[in-house]
Amino acid sequence: MNQSRGIDGLNEADKSKLIADLKARAKAKSMKAAEAEPAPAAATAKAFDFTNLSAHKQLRMMRALGDMTGIADPFFKLHDGIPGGTIRTGSETHVNFGTYNYVGLNGDARVMAAAKDAIDRYGTSVSASRVVAGERPFHGRLEAALARFTGTEAALAFVSGHATNVSTIGCLMGPKDLILADCLAHNSIVEGARLSGATRAAFPHNDLEALEHMLARSRDRHERVLIAVEGLYSMDGDCPDLARLVDLKTRFGAWLMVDEAHAAGVLGASGRGIAEEQGVDPRAVEIWMGTLSKAFASAGGYIAGAQALIDVLKAGAPGFVFSVGLSPAQGAAALQALEIIEAEPDRVARLRANGRTFLAAAKANGLDTGTAIGASVVPVIVGDSSFAVALSNRLSARGISVLPIIFPAVPEKQARLRFFITCEHTEQQLVTAANATAEEFAKLKRGT
Ligand SMILES: Cc1ncc(COP(=O)(O)O)c(C=O)c1O
Repeated sequence: MNQSRGIDGLNEADKSKLIADLKARAKAKSMKAAEAEPAPAAATAKAFDFTNLSAHKQLRMMRALGDMTGIADPFFKLHDGIPGGTIRTGSETHVNFGTYNYVGLNGDARVMAAAKDAIDRYGTSVSASRVVAGERPFHGRLEAALARFTGTEAALAFVSGHATNVSTIGCLMGPKDLILADCLAHNSIVEGARLSGATRAAFPHNDLEALEHMLARSRDRHERVLIAVEGLYSMDGDCPDLARLVDLKTRFGAWLMVDEAHAAGVLGASGRGIAEEQGVDPRAVEIWMGTLSKAFASAGGYIAGAQALIDVLKAGAPGFVFSVGLSPAQGAAALQALEIIEAEPDRVARLRANGRTFLAAAKANGLDTGTAIGASVVPVIVGDSSFAVALSNRLSARGISVLPIIFPAVPEKQARLRFFITCEHTEQQLVTAANATAEEFAKLKRGT
């Protein structure tokens, strides 16, 4: 055997020649390609300019429209202090209908102390995914409390409510599966369904007859089916019929997922959500989802259900495995808030009484509240988006802070003001806000 040759059969001189030859050929090829497709400088610059994106063009159009009509942009306003029944905006204090502080726990001294203690003990971050950075005691305690609260075997906390839905649906469902979601389901459910690659369809809002027809038509063509709904709808403030959904998913062999973002801490005598409100066994629902950003006065989300479901997500949900664990302040605040809700159900009772008061006052004024049941979310539907924005601005001028929901978040003729109700509002604030909304809406319609 020739010792000067390597195992590839080439000596050093042959190798150098081959490498030089390959480099020369690669260079010639890339020059030829460059000649054949000269990069049009102007086109390239245009493609890289973000102002050419249709989303940016639309934004500029909206701003121009605002300037022309003199309607101020009500979004991204600067506030100060803790948002409760009131909020500080510049030098003014407004009655606040723009935040999720449903049971008044954002700003509660005990919740803030728990967050501060957790920071003192564990720092401001857990610094990596729990898979690698390990657990902290508050993670397990929060998850055990969430399982207890939801009446399930186990729970898992994520760093974002939105990511909880995207990641969970994306992890559980695949191309052979079918996802049927209420047409008003939150964007995070829609995005999760898209990510999963499953066949997707939306059924008309709360129309379980239509859902049944869809199941009857399509169930057999798919391996698994997921029905996704909300416990209390975020734009309409109404609920599905949970017992009927359980019956449907049982008959057709589907999983049922209920997003309790606006229902946890709100529905049911002790705030345990739609199952408690409607007297359904929570174990009949496979996937309970909730956020920590609303009644629980923190940020993040959770899934609750069977231990095996939690095991699967813990091992495979990308938003859990590849994302940092819930931070000490967020975890401890949510846990403390949950324990207060359990200990002080009168907060839930006050919130519900306030929801009923506002709904009744709005209806008495002839306002269109759609199908809202009068809980944490009550819409006042006004029609055009421009009407909703103008009405929000007029109410702001009267010291009432309420945000418009406009197209494309809702259909164009369904633009609305969305009132978030808290247990901290007074009866007078609620009635005054409903009266002022009706007065300003009437003036707007008259063009005065
Ligand atoms: C129904 C619903 N699900 C999920 C989310 C996402 O939660 P988060 O804002 O905590 O990320 C929201 C947000 O408001 C929501 O309304």
